[in-house]
Amino acid sequence: MDIYCKALADTIPLFFVNKDDLQLFRDEADSFTQAFLKHTGFEASFGTTLVIPNTDGNAAKVLLGTKGWPEDPRGWVILGAKAAAGLPSGTAVHLADSDFDAAELQQFLLGWGLAGYKFSRYLSKEDKPLAQIFVPEKVSRAALEHQLTAVSLARDLVNTPAQDMGPGELSAEAQRIAADYGAEVSITKGQALLDQNFPAIHAVGRGSSREPALIDLRWGNPDHPKLTLVGKGVVFDTGGLDLKSAANMRWMKKDMGGGAVTMGLAQLIMAEKLPVRLRLLVPAVENSPGDCAYRPGDIIQTRKGISVEIGNTDAEGRVVMCDALAEALTEDPDLLIDMATLTGAARVALGQDLPAFWTQEDELAHALEKAAGEVADPVWRMPLWHPYRKMLKSPIADLNNCAPSGLGGSITAALYLHEFVKPFRNWIHFDIFGWRNDAMPGSPKGGEASALRAVFRFLENRYRENA
Ligand code: BES
Ligand code: MN
Ligand code: ZN
Repeated sequence: MDIYCKALADTIPLFFVNKDDLQLFRDEADSFTQAFLKHTGFEASFGTTLVIPNTDGNAAKVLLGTKGWPEDPRGWVILGAKAAAGLPSGTAVHLADSDFDAAELQQFLLGWGLAGYKFSRYLSKEDKPLAQIFVPEKVSRAALEHQLTAVSLARDLVNTPAQDMGPGELSAEAQRIAADYGAEVSITKGQALLDQNFPAIHAVGRGSSREPALIDLRWGNPDHPKLTLVGKGVVFDTGGLDLKSAANMRWMKKDMGGGAVTMGLAQLIMAEKLPVRLRLLVPAVENSPGDCAYRPGDIIQTRKGISVEIGNTDAEGRVVMCDALAEALTEDPDLLIDMATLTGAARVALGQDLPAFWTQEDELAHALEKAAGEVADPVWRMPLWHPYRKMLKSPIADLNNCAPSGLGGSITAALYLHEFVKPFRNWIHFDIFGWRNDAMPGSPKGGEASALRAVFRFLENRYRENA
């Protein structure tokens, strides 16, 4: 059933009530409502709901407490999510007031929709559907639905266990999305990766019986500015021969989170017909130990021609990403954005709510921060601190894939990628978590589409005419 209902018929009005309004509302209400308000003890606390019946006992109106009033887009998203989650299934509402700001309403309605996400693929019983809301004309229902579809896709891909989300299945997902929007997709896998000079992607993936692959999707008018997305698609990260501990391996089905978010973004860009020539590259591999696996101390070749000594097989993300980035740059894009669950260090630095990003271009950074604020999807800039580059030196290869100490680990990882991107400057690198350890309104525990909405708004601001 649709969360955003199409008709006003059979919907009941929803009133926003702050603490000051409550008294007024009470004074103006009929005696039945007054009595009902009194005995339910509704206080208009932030995000609380109250369904008020008419005298037949049917739901007549809904009050939504706002305490004060949301102060920023984030408040609106959370308010929407709490409202939807608090109402009984089967309720369908419309907004009683019409004088809302379109941007605030958009965030409120998006939050409402996000509350409906649940990963249910393996559950034998489905949850009851979420309460519905009618979308007023000043907000685009299609745009809301596209965003929900993109966020849900990314979350589903991450949440799906690695047993059912190998390189082949991730490739099939890309083919399905491509078919939906008339995009072209090519998959290079197994031996073909070596034949076509993607030696680093092959090296990381060859330890698994599930063949490594490079997903390459293209869409849009070739005359539009070229936007290239690259997402880390490590479908499961055991660490390889440098095996992770049980606790560190537990959630590594999420190590294709960068691939999942870039696929969600690609889908959203296509659904919204953003005027760009899109390219999406996802190196999809399983990092497994085994007699075929790449080893600590091996020196591998990369597509760019930089040789890399493997200091640690668990620093595999940067190794697969570097071949994809080198390929991305052969077409001189207008903008290159990569997303990867690259380091634990980024999470230690910023925690689960703040995706870290790096760019040399201040203008890009500021535009991204502005967009993130507009849609309540925060991101945080980190430094591409070149003096740390020396930590990646190897005496016997051009580069080491891992620094001798973990200090500044997310920065040295970014600097490693930079070696494959320079001298190109319009590059933004994201080190994301792709996950939530505990739920927030609109975001259950599990896979998360980190920074997806922030990046999409940034792209809209950059590429959409009259944005
Ligand atoms: N996928 C992990 C990073 C990760 C771990 C992200 C936990 C989010 C949560 C990555 O491949 C990895 O193992 N990185 C190592 C790098 C180290 C060996 C230089 C890390 O962060 O410990
Ligand atoms: Mn790893
Ligand atoms: Zn990894």
